[in-house]
Amino acid sequence: MAQIAYGVGTSHGPLLNLPPAEWEVRANFDRAQIDLALRDGTYTYEELHKHRGGPHFAKFTTLDERTARHTRCQQGLDQLGDKLLAADPDIMVVVGDDQHEWFMEDKQPSFSVFCGDEIQNLTLTEEEREHKIKIGRGSDMYSYRPLADQAYPVAKDLSLHIHQQAVEDEFDVAACMKQPTDADGSIRSVGHAIGFIYRRLLRDKPVPVVPVLLNTFYPPNQPTPKRCYEFGKSIGRAIRSWKSDARIAAVASGGISHFVVDEEWDHKMLGAFKNGDVETLINEPNIMFRSGSSETKNWICVAGILEGSGLKMDLLDYVPCYRTDAGTGSGMAFATWS
Ligand SMILES: [Fe+2]
Repeated sequence: MAQIAYGVGTSHGPLLNLPPAEWEVRANFDRAQIDLALRDGTYTYEELHKHRGGPHFAKFTTLDERTARHTRCQQGLDQLGDKLLAADPDIMVVVGDDQHEWFMEDKQPSFSVFCGDEIQNLTLTEEEREHKIKIGRGSDMYSYRPLADQAYPVAKDLSLHIHQQAVEDEFDVAACMKQPTDADGSIRSVGHAIGFIYRRLLRDKPVPVVPVLLNTFYPPNQPTPKRCYEFGKSIGRAIRSWKSDARIAAVASGGISHFVVDEEWDHKMLGAFKNGDVETLINEPNIMFRSGSSETKNWICVAGILEGSGLKMDLLDYVPCYRTDAGTGSGMAFATWS
């Protein structure tokens, strides 16, 4: 039977891939926001600044401090990539979220498993590049999308087996048998959550993958943390009953708190992952998982996959990266389970 041999959790936010001097463009983007989510409230930038801004965060947003934190993140990512490559899994189950990359407003499944033969990660079109630059992104996008089109193999037999197990476990999970296309028939590139793992961690090594996408971001059908954990357990059951001697890595892509950094919450969540404190993970109110922070559910799903595997979490680093003195930015975490 297949073996759950390794686990990875990584943040994947844009600040990881933007030089610190360019964080200001993202900061300006935040200053124009009217719905910055922090715990159970949403704030305009001015409200957020009044609520908790000031000298406390200002000292973290100097270029020197940003640079030091960015450097630590690069070290964390380099280490994580080295460790994942050294673990040399036969297959990765990557749990990510879709942010209107494959699934649009016309249909957005809570859970989906991709069961096609391969996934295509396409280089940016000129139009996409121009749009990204306009919203303060640019060269960082190549940490998600390749310089030339790439295809990565899918472990289709395991995808189908995971899907079958999910059905037996009474999950109504979407089966994505083909990569979604636009109205003109052109393929939609694989999303940032999967692309980041290949580009930044695996350096494009084509390890076969089972892509699992949760809708963490968009109302009204985001699954609860408990449901994400249970779904992970179902995936774990599928792996353990799959007739193969393959060694599988489970990879969580995204999180922790963003785009308002909440260090206290990040420590609470990371502590619960480290200690295998399932009660804390599944009982965290759904409202706490909004905007980018919702991606922490990808980690909760992976914690469910890893239940009973005996693997223990090692937190390589946690780096709160601030880009404004209202405390916006990203809480970055890099972890392995071995
Ligand atoms: Fe994301």
